[in-house]
Amino acid sequence: MERREFVKLCMTAATAVAAAPRVLAETGGSLHTHERAQLTDRQGRPLTAHALRRQETYVFNYPYASTPCFLLRLKEPAPDGLELKPKEGSPYTWPGGVGRDHSVVAFSAICPHQLSFPSAVRSVIDYRRDKSQAAGRAGVIVCCAHGSVYDPTHGARVLGGPAPQPLTTIALEHDPRTDHLYAVGTMGIEVFDQFFSAYRKELNQYYGRGAYREPVSGKAPVETMDRYTRNRIHC
Ligand code: FES
Repeated sequence: MERREFVKLCMTAATAVAAAPRVLAETGGSLHTHERAQLTDRQGRPLTAHALRRQETYVFNYPYASTPCFLLRLKEPAPDGLELKPKEGSPYTWPGGVGRDHSVVAFSAICPHQLSFPSAVRSVIDYRRDKSQAAGRAGVIVCCAHGSVYDPTHGARVLGGPAPQPLTTIALEHDPRTDHLYAVGTMGIEVFDQFFSAYRKELNQYYGRGAYREPVSGKAPVETMDRYTRNRIHC
């Protein structure tokens, strides 16, 4: 997309220590660890999984200050144990949804085909709760730049279009006692370095020199897609 366009500027300790190895085990050791960040609302208050509206598109930046991710509470549980095989790169086992009904998932919103992403100005990549004409179905993530379709219920695997691999999974932890959510790393192929190379000039202007690649830690504020971008382009 539109390189001139721009991205939007966008617990307990015991649980933290215990949960990371669990995520690692569930993914067959394929977790790329990043800073741990609690998902919060715009005021910094912890989000609870049950408060997320089903099939609403939420966005937060992780694992870097400028890299947007989708957060979704799906209509149905997202099963674990799915093995995903990118065309290039190692296979990995997707751990499924989290939360009390296993329906909360998160993925990088940077399309691995040619790096389209949600910006403050507009977004051609979005989750569709209603039917997408391009995809011929509802409940999928569609990138209208070139028609790639991803299945968020099954690890954002590719259902159609030119994308070479699933969207990068954002690994989530869920604290069953508090219902709070944490981002702890990624699974699958990361495209952050390519993203930084493609948009370095704009990112430096927007975030300040080098700040765009600052790791997110502590808190990761979440907002709806409607707040994140002014123009959601669907196809
Ligand atoms: S950039 Fe998303 S399909 Fe091409």
